[in-house]
Amino acid sequence: MNKIGFIGAGNVSKAIITGMAKNKFELDRIYINSKSNESKEKLSMDLMIKCAKNNVDLVKKCKYIFLAIKSQHYGKVLNEIKDVIEPDRHVLVSLAPGYSIEECRETTGIENLKVLRAMPNIPSLVGEGMTGIYYAPDVFTDVEKKEVEIIFNGFGEVQELDEEDHMDTLVSISASSPAYVYIMIEAMGDAGVLTGLPRKMSYKLAAQAVIGAAKMVKELDMHPGELKDSVCSPGGTTIEAVKVLEDRGFRSALIESMLACYNKVKELKR
Ligand SMILES: NC(=O)c1ccc[n+]([C@@H]2O[C@H](COP(=O)([O-])OP(=O)(O)OC[C@H]3O[C@@H](n4cnc5c(N)ncnc54)[C@H](OP(=O)(O)O)[C@@H]3O)[C@@H](O)[C@H]2O)c1
Repeated sequence: MNKIGFIGAGNVSKAIITGMAKNKFELDRIYINSKSNESKEKLSMDLMIKCAKNNVDLVKKCKYIFLAIKSQHYGKVLNEIKDVIEPDRHVLVSLAPGYSIEECRETTGIENLKVLRAMPNIPSLVGEGMTGIYYAPDVFTDVEKKEVEIIFNGFGEVQELDEEDHMDTLVSISASSPAYVYIMIEAMGDAGVLTGLPRKMSYKLAAQAVIGAAKMVKELDMHPGELKDSVCSPGGTTIEAVKVLEDRGFRSALIESMLACYNKVKELKR
């Protein structure tokens, strides 16, 4: 299989490659480079992956190039590597929420650049990531798409999108949403402590309840409302809790916070 290079050795590269290690993906195919030697050498030592000398060296060595850098650094890095990109060989993976396929092509001056947008999330770190992908139309071979899927399955699940604009929604629904769930688990843990449980035990109970509930939504193909109803017996304890959640606007707080996240992505793109 072809080699994979990561430009940037920050949170996302660390999460993705750690998840791959957990899932026994062949890490000897991976190269890394970052701005400073410290970051890449640390990640290289921790995960036993190879370092490239610089961004150009990394592109020469690898076929799949992850741009795991902030969007403000895209211009500089793409300008640096554009002369060594071979349009028939290289595949660029753009991870920055606000940087479009068109912008990647304009900056490199390569009209038929093979570039895909990808939006992973932080549970990639434990091999349970969710990545949305949008391929630039009409430039990828079936073999490349298959290889891309294998790479992303190395740290979780993949969902291909039909429209590039849907990447903006993915920021709120899968890339940022672990933060909302962490707040929920923390609050559930506090409530457990309030009613007498040790804190560590409270987090374990809350986290596994969330994992199990999410698994049921994915595996049983049932509407989440139907699953919620099945937990609420008439005059029972759960419906008391649900009533308080509805009174306090739990549902609309989630919808509005995700809308705020989505609007912020749109604002960043202007
Ligand atoms: N965090 C998330 O959950 C998440 C989810 C989906 C997508 N994303 C996107 O993924 C991208 C990376 O995010 P992150 O959280 O990993 O960022 P980060 O932790 O800030 O890491 C950025 C990395 O870019 C490197 N870098 C900067 N300029 C460079 C250059 N000229 N050449 C090579 N490397 C350079 C930095 O090197 P040094 O370490 O040497 O400074 C650093 O290792 C962003 O566009 C972000 O929006 C993030």
